[in-house]
Amino acid sequence: MSEIEKKGVLGVEKRANGCAIVWFDDPAEAMNTLKGDIAEDFEWAFGKVEKDPDVKAVVFASGKPDSFVAGANIDMLNACKTAQDAANLSRLSQKMQEAMASFPKPIVAAIHGVALGGGLEITLPCHGRIASDDSKTKLGLPECQLGLLPGGGGTQRLHPLIGVAAALDMLLTGKQVSAKTAKKMGLVDEVVPAPILIVAAMKMALALAAKGPGATSPKHKPASTSDRLREFALEENKLGRRVLFDQARKKVLGQTQGNYPAQEKILDVVRVGVEKGLAAGLEAEAVAFGELVVSPVAKQLISIFFAQTALKKDSGVDDPSVKPKKVAKVGMLGAGLMGAGITYVTINNVGVAVRLKDKDDAGLGKGLAYVRGILDGRVRKRRLSPMARDLLIHRVTTTTDMSGFQDVDVVIEAVFEDLGLKKKVLADVEGAGKEDVIFASNTSSLPITQIAEGANRPENVIGMHYFSPVEKMPLLEIINTRSTAPWVTATCVELGKKQGKTVIVVNDGVGFYTSRILGPYMNEAAYLLAEGVAVEAMDQALVKWGFPVGPITLLDEVGIDVAEKVGHIVHDAFGDRMKPPPGIEKLVADKRYGRKNKRGFYVYDGKTKGKKEVDTAVYALLGVTPGKVIAANEIAERCALQMVNEAALCFQEGILRSARDGDVGAIFGLGFPPFRGGPFRYVDAVGVGEVVKKLERLRDQHGPRFAPAEILVEMAKDGRTFHGENKVEPPKSPGAVGTADKPAKKAKKSA
Ligand code: NAI
Repeated sequence: MSEIEKKGVLGVEKRANGCAIVWFDDPAEAMNTLKGDIAEDFEWAFGKVEKDPDVKAVVFASGKPDSFVAGANIDMLNACKTAQDAANLSRLSQKMQEAMASFPKPIVAAIHGVALGGGLEITLPCHGRIASDDSKTKLGLPECQLGLLPGGGGTQRLHPLIGVAAALDMLLTGKQVSAKTAKKMGLVDEVVPAPILIVAAMKMALALAAKGPGATSPKHKPASTSDRLREFALEENKLGRRVLFDQARKKVLGQTQGNYPAQEKILDVVRVGVEKGLAAGLEAEAVAFGELVVSPVAKQLISIFFAQTALKKDSGVDDPSVKPKKVAKVGMLGAGLMGAGITYVTINNVGVAVRLKDKDDAGLGKGLAYVRGILDGRVRKRRLSPMARDLLIHRVTTTTDMSGFQDVDVVIEAVFEDLGLKKKVLADVEGAGKEDVIFASNTSSLPITQIAEGANRPENVIGMHYFSPVEKMPLLEIINTRSTAPWVTATCVELGKKQGKTVIVVNDGVGFYTSRILGPYMNEAAYLLAEGVAVEAMDQALVKWGFPVGPITLLDEVGIDVAEKVGHIVHDAFGDRMKPPPGIEKLVADKRYGRKNKRGFYVYDGKTKGKKEVDTAVYALLGVTPGKVIAANEIAERCALQMVNEAALCFQEGILRSARDGDVGAIFGLGFPPFRGGPFRYVDAVGVGEVVKKLERLRDQHGPRFAPAEILVEMAKDGRTFHGENKVEPPKSPGAVGTADKPAKKAKKSA
């Protein structure tokens, strides 16, 4: 290897074959990101290779072993004060891209590892792109997920390579593709094994140089005749393009309900480029990028991104000297829906053995079939080889007694939701397991403190509350009792992260955090229903407000019987505030349990495709006549404010460690609208005084269940917020857990 001359984040290496390699290797970061000052290094590096008569061709590569470029630096975007500042950043980056596109010597991007956002954009003006076939290599433009659009030419330089329809798909979803898919789409020209990436890139660059100035890799053509026809019909004539953009807009609005402006702006600026050319498209991109960077939606989505990043580094305990213990084997009690899902994420993501117990062989068979089904699905999609699947499934061994539990480090239970049974299986584990075995319950509503009552080692008992389906839902809520030992919490947090989860740690209480705040939200929907609001009106109102599904659809999914049971538990615990309206028990008596038995609020006859129909028989059962008209926003706010107010109560009682965890829990566990930032960021954005006023108005109209949480009233008086410099802190030591009779503790103000 020849010597590398360095300046800032770039280095230039001259090879004897006439190639220069421009290495991107930011010494200050584990992964390369694009920061504002790269422009200077860029000018130096490319100026140098341009002037050098020995250099005929250039390879642009990352000096990091496992990643290319992870994207634009988000702190830099966050620091932009005005739309103009951000638009100028975009123009700066576009200028760099333009310099690459018109560079007199061919540049080939050699991509190994993630090339995301600005990291992919920087490859688009290159004259060729080559990627390693490594599974770490992922290409994508995920900006829309942060409420932004690619501001470095990405909205303009992608579609000439892969076609408008495919470009819109990548831009509007932010999805990441593998090297193999990228090659099929025309996003890269060649895929090779990682060890020969640089050699192959140099070969491609020299071949382009031999073709003469301005040569690029040949444009990809769709493989099949039907794809070629579609591309011609929809992309290459004006009328077809109009249809394409109109359809895309309709789909986008259906998904975003108009709550996410980035997607609409992406459509606008791609269209400008397609119809008016690159220069006009780039300018539209810069202006739209500027507007989005300072938009409230992007601010909220970026704050969620930061919260997730912070949680990845959070051990779950405040004392930094507490370290997690190694988990080499997990015991799983219950092979039902939840147990099977937890088994899958443990063998697949953590890579350790699971000892799976159910009460009988039938239960075990069902559980194993579920795990196998997920793995088979991945084999069908060619994401997993049959051999890798077989190796994974062999990590699970099954039993109907406690054999094989002597050497497990953590036992997670997901048996039926029955306190007596949970206590019994805990005693079994204490009898059969190691001295320091951790017992984690996946109960969705029983206080962990009650499960731990009578345990020999209550300090080893904790809650690990997963969400269904476990393999898809991102959140894990870990629940400490007052006795749980910090190392137990740290060990479970570490395990959860390895399972691929975003983990929040909360203190015990009825419904912990997520189930508790869901309670009054669902209850309010039941009140509205009892007042005569139609089922569809309710679901549509909350979807429009930003939830993925409405509360009545959710009731059908969760199970009306389950909701009724939980309704009583929270009513008993929290009193009148959570008193359910009369009616739901009549649905349960009519054996309407929801989707699981195909009898719920909606019709599940397998005939109706697409939009679900309401089963109007529910109105007669509830004794109501549907048709009461209440404005959609009023419906949504009644439900959502119940959730927000309850979240504030959890904060004031010390259930939560931070407002950040409360936001993340509501968004990733319950689908609280991400663009609103979570319940606590929502309060900050609307203004705590305004939220209190809304709650007081609703209290006057509908009763004391809307009484604002004490902390909100106090914050309104003192002008405090949940986030930012003037934020309040939750009480450090939680009060009595799981009881309604405990007076709420006042939240402390931060120093
Ligand atoms: P499920 O009914 O699908 O599975 C329960 C399994 O436990 C069955 O296979 C049953 O045979 C087995 N079982 C019963 N007694 C046992 C024993 N003594 N030893 C070993 N296995 C035994 O129930 P699901 O939905 O998986 O729920 C399990 C737990 O997870 C419950 O506590 C539930 O509240 C909680 N949960 C459920 C969620 C959901 O959406 N279904 C979400 C979060 C928590």
